[in-house]
Amino acid sequence: MITRKNKTSLRNPAMNSRATVGRFPSYLFILREMSRSGFEYISATVLAEHVGIESISVRKDLAITGVVGKPKIGFHVESLIKAIEEYIGWDQGIEAILVGVGSLGSALLNYDHFHDHKIRLVAGFDVKESLIGTNIKGTPIYSIDQLGEVVKKLGVKLGVIALPPSEVSKVAAAMMDSGIVGIWSFAPAIIPPRKGVVIQYEDIASGLAILSMQVKRQENPKPKVKIEMSICMGSSCFSRGGTKYITFLEEYIKENDLSDVVDLIGNRCTGNCTGGPNITINGVLYQNITSAELVGIIETKLNE
Ligand code: FES
Repeated sequence: MITRKNKTSLRNPAMNSRATVGRFPSYLFILREMSRSGFEYISATVLAEHVGIESISVRKDLAITGVVGKPKIGFHVESLIKAIEEYIGWDQGIEAILVGVGSLGSALLNYDHFHDHKIRLVAGFDVKESLIGTNIKGTPIYSIDQLGEVVKKLGVKLGVIALPPSEVSKVAAAMMDSGIVGIWSFAPAIIPPRKGVVIQYEDIASGLAILSMQVKRQENPKPKVKIEMSICMGSSCFSRGGTKYITFLEEYIKENDLSDVVDLIGNRCTGNCTGGPNITINGVLYQNITSAELVGIIETKLNE
């Protein structure tokens, strides 16, 4: 999908495994269902049909776990569940805190299936007086002012953010100061990175943008125009979240069957670092745009 074109390669093992890791929860869901239904073995072909991808991709993904299938029988379901859980760290269970107990935060606190992923939300934080001192499904809600104290006391390393964009930077910094090393953000805002802290964005708008684009694509013939996108692979753009474009665009191009229309390449630093991460589309520089904005630009170009 991505071409080099005399420029920096965008491919590295971490990115490939990121796409693979993103599919592991789907595999687990199906495998657990199979286990509950009494199936002892499952073939890569059957698993691929359930997930809706090629069986070769499933085989490649599962090879990472080290579990080997038996010829003509397939993979031992329980062994595969255990291996995937170990690989993605769901075998131990993990505790997390959540900041922002609004509609989305409350929904997350009420979400029963976190148990399946061995995630336990042990504390919620908000500024709203009426929430402080209450609990949601057994999770106590504290004042945001107690964030540092509670996180340190509980020794929690993972934090979930469900806040409006304007409050994200400050809260993320407070989380990191308290010892949080993994942030799962549901807010449409970029978090200034810090060494040793992993940030995962859950961009609901981009999922919706892809969905609406796919609906449109079904109604309209494939466009004839060409789009060249160049993502800056310089260290500054990279550390500011440039990788999010790569992951997102690879999936987007694949899902919309646009590989012969969209050309995705990497380029070196051009000196426009301060406003990055940078992406150039048909020669026009865009800085620090969201995935939803990116889809909007692509859609406009495809329909020009
Ligand atoms: S690192 Fe991207 S412009 Fe400098």
